[in-house]
Amino acid sequence: MYIDLYERIWMWAGVAIIAMFLGVMIVPAVVMAINPPSHVETVDPAALSSHPEFASGAITPRDDGSVVVSVVASTFAYGPDPIEVPANKPITFRITSSDVMHGFQVVGTNVNAMAIPGYVSQLTYTFPRAGEYLVTCNEYCGLYHHAMVGKLIVR
Ligand code: CUA
Repeated sequence: MYIDLYERIWMWAGVAIIAMFLGVMIVPAVVMAINPPSHVETVDPAALSSHPEFASGAITPRDDGSVVVSVVASTFAYGPDPIEVPANKPITFRITSSDVMHGFQVVGTNVNAMAIPGYVSQLTYTFPRAGEYLVTCNEYCGLYHHAMVGKLIVR
């Protein structure tokens, strides 16, 4: 079967692009271990006020210097607020919502998770230096969504 030179070039270009796209998915997943979150944890959104972890919006230091921050998002605020954490220590955020879906984004960092009623979103981040950060909600949650902000202080 005769295939024109230009046709062959475009066929191989197509194959190369598909191979590149597959590589872009496979290399980070296998080599760099970058995968979708596997953490699935549920919590009763109606019982958060009596929940041992989320009732008080706790900031809990661990023995190794890392800190666990348990955040409850609700229309239209975060608890605790402000959040105070140390610099250069792994900070694990555990985030849930008591009512509707909210966002928890620490502006200028990679900390960005959904706060979903019934589920706990968990991620760990190390703040390299002291400073004040704005926490914003990036899921439309109601009339005062635009006013749903918090403060995170790194010392
Ligand atoms: Cu909470 Cu938008």
